[in-house]
Amino acid sequence: MNGNGRVAYFDGIADKWDGFDDPAALGTRLREGIEELGVGQDETVLDVGCGTGNLTNALLDRLSSSGRVISVDFSPKMIAVAKGKIQDRRVTWHVADARRLPLASESCDRVICYSVWPHFEDRRAVAEELSRVLRPMGRLHVWHTIGRGKVNEIHAGAGEAVRGDVLQPAQATAEVLVAAGFEVTTTVDAEGGYLVSATKLDA
Ligand SMILES: C[S@@+](CC[C@H](N)C(=O)[O-])C[C@H]1O[C@@H](n2cnc3c(N)ncnc32)[C@H](O)[C@@H]1O
Repeated sequence: MNGNGRVAYFDGIADKWDGFDDPAALGTRLREGIEELGVGQDETVLDVGCGTGNLTNALLDRLSSSGRVISVDFSPKMIAVAKGKIQDRRVTWHVADARRLPLASESCDRVICYSVWPHFEDRRAVAEELSRVLRPMGRLHVWHTIGRGKVNEIHAGAGEAVRGDVLQPAQATAEVLVAAGFEVTTTVDAEGGYLVSATKLDA
């Protein structure tokens, strides 16, 4: 399925997306996870595949008035829903593909790919683009708050556009990141969650 089919798919579910989870419970999970990831209060964090802004919201709770969130999604409808929920001068919204980010090189301290990695068609190319926008020693997280088996089960039963989007074992994701110039520091591939964290090596 090409990018346009995927955009249409995510546009089509944007209005329903927040009904698929309990927003309060999700917010708690995300805030706890953000603390565990060690997000600093003054950082500029890229939320790539931000959807309706649930991670963006949790990041705003964590950040100081100097912190910034750059929230990117290729679905205009997802961004429209997110903007309707969140008005905060610390957030910048972009409708863009993760492969071609409208951001300056080395402009982010951290990138979080929350519940989006399996949807990237060319993960190596995305990893290289994320490396470009990260500062040296910046951090990247590929994160899901449910296990890989559950993620893949959900996609297998979803619309045609995403049915083939498989979350690979954490080791395979780690290899993609290493090939793109990252050092992998954490791999968790458990029933309750999935996390691959990495650092962009100093050039
Ligand atoms: C499963 S949803 C998750 C949304 C959000 N991260 C959350 O957990 O609530 C995946 C999101 O990633 C976006 N997405 C998928 N592939 C993308 C790409 N190549 N570039 C930018 N956004 C993408 C989709 O439009 C969708 O909003």
